[in-house]
Amino acid sequence: MQLHIKSAHAALERHAALVVAVGPEQQLSPAAAAIDQHTQGQLSQALKTASFSGKAGEILPLWRLHDFPQDWLLVVGTGPSSDLQLATLLKMTQAATRHLQGLHVAHARLTFAEIEIAGVTAIEQLTHIARSVLESCYRFDRYKTQNNTPTSLTQVSFSVDERIPLAAGREALAWAQAVAAGTALARDLGNLPGNVCTPRHLAEQAQELGKGQRKLRVKVLGEAQLEKLGAGAFMAVSRGSQQEGQLVTIEYRGGPAKQAPIALIGKGITFDTGGISLKPAATMDEMKFDMCGAASVLGVMRMLLAAQLPINVVGVLACAENMPSGGAGRPGDIVTSLSGKTIEILNTDAEGRLVLCDALTYTQKTFKPVTMIDIATLTGACVVALGKVASGIFTSDDALAEDLVAAGEASLDRGWRLPLWKDYQELLDSTCADMANIGGPTAGAITAACFLSRFTEGQRWAHLDIAGSAWLSGTQKGATGRPVALLSEYLRRQAYA
Ligand code: BES
Ligand code: MN
Ligand code: ZN
Repeated sequence: MQLHIKSAHAALERHAALVVAVGPEQQLSPAAAAIDQHTQGQLSQALKTASFSGKAGEILPLWRLHDFPQDWLLVVGTGPSSDLQLATLLKMTQAATRHLQGLHVAHARLTFAEIEIAGVTAIEQLTHIARSVLESCYRFDRYKTQNNTPTSLTQVSFSVDERIPLAAGREALAWAQAVAAGTALARDLGNLPGNVCTPRHLAEQAQELGKGQRKLRVKVLGEAQLEKLGAGAFMAVSRGSQQEGQLVTIEYRGGPAKQAPIALIGKGITFDTGGISLKPAATMDEMKFDMCGAASVLGVMRMLLAAQLPINVVGVLACAENMPSGGAGRPGDIVTSLSGKTIEILNTDAEGRLVLCDALTYTQKTFKPVTMIDIATLTGACVVALGKVASGIFTSDDALAEDLVAAGEASLDRGWRLPLWKDYQELLDSTCADMANIGGPTAGAITAACFLSRFTEGQRWAHLDIAGSAWLSGTQKGATGRPVALLSEYLRRQAYA
């Protein structure tokens, strides 16, 4: 989809549907007022006749007003002006975008960036509105043999007032496009079923991304190499599956050659049955989303290519399938991780931390990153703690925690810090190995983070638990693409710091 920036007074494109905002007491936005004047009050007349209450996101489509060159004028309710916030504008944008698609409209002009909102800059507002348009057009219908027509919208222009110079507006749209492209890739990969999105498929997607890209270098390690390296924790999970596990590294070189990279390490369990500690059947299908951490890392790589950020970033995908089989690990097994530390596997369903601990060790040794951030659908306990609203953020580095929370806030992809105090570490004690892979019934999200912390000593590191934020359930079942937006904002701030 093409996005354009237009000054508020620019003539409308031929055929473009015009989208304007109106409040519950028929308060017309500046763009709506201009149209009303231009059409000799037809808009206010229509609002009086139609049953339009003006609540947030309500739509009144008007067809071919007299003396108005456009086919469609779409009126969108703002709700009470007293609580008109950025979130309201985004709800309105989503409703308008969906409605335009229903009308099979190809070109639209959106005027919501002209509405002043307290607490956000005009540029931030434009960026969010553009992202919302793009994300509202996302569909995953490749397995529907009917009703799988692509989105009708091909061009959307955003009108802006003098607060936004056109060049700055264009830059904001390019950024929105980059983040949305990364988010869409993460969603696509997340939504793919486990029989298609295997560890090999993820490795191929990484190679595909790197094709013809001078700044990207992709390497894939298979099980033979991982076995030889001594990645015993990773292999304890991967050995149980017919699908070969893969450790994928993607180097993006956008910064100075000598600059140490930021490393992003994603959990890529392409299906998590629990292994011998088998999960119950009821919602096991959702465990196809257990690779959303790895998908978000690929999404960030796609964003980096689109935005060409001047920074070095390494993406590492720890890809395996967690299956029960004659070759699978058993509860009670003791394995030696790549770091040399031994682990007593008390529950084979705590597999994410097992593949990740070896990926963390490998990343630290191979790339000597300035910062490591792992992203994982790690614990049901994190969903209990934070629900689907926020990703869990764990780090002992206060500045890094602050940066990640701020990036989440700014990108509307929020994370919230949970403690990583030493007091929790003893819950991982094992009677016969260096540590156990589970910490018992309490503080499950924290003990999982504590486990990972043992493989990041001397390293600036944060862990994002996205078990709640990475997908929605029930009738809305589907990947969200989070936390691509949070990470993108974090990296952008690092790149231009
Ligand atoms: N992939 C799951 C975490 C998960 C569970 C995410 C439910 C979203 C919804 C992870 O591999 C897992 O099974 N974790 C266990 C850990 C436990 C055995 C200590 C969990 O959370 O139950
Ligand atoms: Mn599991
Ligand atoms: Zn899992």
